Amino acid sequence: MRNMKDQAKPHGRRSEEEQLEKIKTCVFPSSVEATKALAQEVLALLREKEKDSKPLVLGLATGSTPVPFYRELIRLHREESVSFKNMITFNLDEYYPISRDHRESYYQFMQNQLFKHIDIPADNVHIPDGSMGREQVFADCQAYEEAIEKAGGIDLQVLGIGNTGHIGFNEPGSSCDSVTRLITLDRITRQDAARDFLGLENVPSFALTMGVGTILRARRIVLMAWGEKKAAIVARAVEGPVSDVVSASFLQEHPHASFYIDEAAASELSRKKFPWLAGSVSWTPSLSRCAVNWLSTRLEKPVLKLVDEDYNENGLSELVTEQGPAYTLNIRIFNEIQHTITGWPGGKPEADDSNRPERALPYPKKVAVFSPEPFADVFAMGGTINRLVSQGHDVHLIYQASGNLGVPDGEVEKFLRVLQDIAGPNSKDWEKQREFADHLLRMLKGKTQTEPDSQPIREIKGLLRREEAREAALVLGIVPTRIYFQDLLFYEKGRYRQFRPEPADVDKIVKLLVDLQPHQIYLTGKVADPSSVEYNCFRVLELALELLKKEDWLGKCSFWLYRVHEKELEPHKIDMAVPLSPDQLSLKMRAIHQHQSQSTQVLISEDRNREMARLYDHFGLAEYEAIEVFQRWRLFQ
Ligand code: F6R
Repeated sequence: MRNMKDQAKPHGRRSEEEQLEKIKTCVFPSSVEATKALAQEVLALLREKEKDSKPLVLGLATGSTPVPFYRELIRLHREESVSFKNMITFNLDEYYPISRDHRESYYQFMQNQLFKHIDIPADNVHIPDGSMGREQVFADCQAYEEAIEKAGGIDLQVLGIGNTGHIGFNEPGSSCDSVTRLITLDRITRQDAARDFLGLENVPSFALTMGVGTILRARRIVLMAWGEKKAAIVARAVEGPVSDVVSASFLQEHPHASFYIDEAAASELSRKKFPWLAGSVSWTPSLSRCAVNWLSTRLEKPVLKLVDEDYNENGLSELVTEQGPAYTLNIRIFNEIQHTITGWPGGKPEADDSNRPERALPYPKKVAVFSPEPFADVFAMGGTINRLVSQGHDVHLIYQASGNLGVPDGEVEKFLRVLQDIAGPNSKDWEKQREFADHLLRMLKGKTQTEPDSQPIREIKGLLRREEAREAALVLGIVPTRIYFQDLLFYEKGRYRQFRPEPADVDKIVKLLVDLQPHQIYLTGKVADPSSVEYNCFRVLELALELLKKEDWLGKCSFWLYRVHEKELEPHKIDMAVPLSPDQLSLKMRAIHQHQSQSTQVLISEDRNREMARLYDHFGLAEYEAIEVFQRWRLFQ
């Protein structure tokens, strides 16, 4: 391996705010722009190589992250006649043991996501083989290394990053000179894959992976990351120490490694989180609030007790000079935070609303709560939904995707066994039901891991989620006639990590919106991974709203974003905080518990809401039991 430290980094001068970053990090508005830029780089390399009559050797990754990149390569092939005949590829990894026809094998993934749509010769494709016998693994891994060498080494290696910081499957503890080998998968990595394999027990325990050393030998490396879920690990890899605890941090040692990330994945970088520590900033209202919150948390002091020295000694002298003294600044920010708190999420009728998050009129409001799947709504805003209903608003719950992929087989089995029990062994009246239950139970038992659920099983899973949603809504005071199951097609036709919006779904949501004409809309998914259910539901809704943007009623509608799977809103982004009393919190928990098929996520909601209340208390505001929070979303801005 060449000595990378001796080589000059090609980063050129960094801006002041990037100086804490030890890897060149390009932040794009979204994954679309980022993957277009990467695809153009591949194209340029391909042309360069062609001039020298050499093939381009590309290292490839799987998972959700590279999906938009592969779509762009396919588009280039189809629409711009780019040929990939002159490309050789080496994939990073494969589960072990796994057969090549298993629907979750990376072999299948690559065929479906890229290879069968472009003109790369089959012989040019290399993917570690997860089906070989254990005794053959070592020799095969060595042969993989040799094949890379024989091809001339990797010109450009494309990477994603796991929540453990892994690149390829190099879990924590992998050394910087590791080579292609068999590795035991980390518990977090297996949990992340559990949904794909329909249960943790089906996820292979091992994987074959190129080593960190293999990856570092590539001449150019681009790591991509999208969505807020990746923000924390991206920041550790880019700004933290080089260590085998986060394999991606080894990329700091490579002279031509870059991160291509979207805004959401960049949100934990210092330049976004505390830009004042990196240099001079322009103090917007949101940044000032961010800084004061940060100082209050850092010093464990309520906002109103911060003094000028606190600002001066913690890198915020510019802020206190510009907007101080501390006393004035503290009061302003304290008031801002206080004005986010409301027990009237639909607006308080007959009250002065100049300092309230939501306008008083019209009253009552027609409210549309968009939930990507049943559960998201109750999880994030069950207390708020209940308040809206009890304050007389007309609340409608819209479940965009059926959620049938997220139901464990055990739930269906339980339901079918109850059906069998009701039917009894001999009852003539229930003969059909019994046969139906017997048939589906056989289907469940005979299910192989290489195929998805059959349609009848998926339908039952969807029905179970509908029932759970209805029960939960009833607890919160919403009757079934106010519930809409949209069963969006992108979800029914797609699969995890590969969803994309369908035009028919947009039409469906347009129709619903036109029928409802709500005054207030709650939605989520804006900062989620672009291939996730949440993001696609958000995007479908956004596209529908764009089509309706000239409608008068839409101009008067207010929008509130909530978070589910992403990290909770940072305090300075909160525009509305709805406190819950202990009784309201227990009611919400009762609603959440109706979603039996989602039981693993139940407790997180309570913790989150209590944690938010503690934070408000810490800033020096009233001490509540729990708080649900929302960010205002201004349409088309
Ligand atoms: C897969 C691979 C992994 C993934 C990582 C992120 O070939 O190399 O390192 O890139 O686990 O996975 P996603 O993109 O699904 O979040």
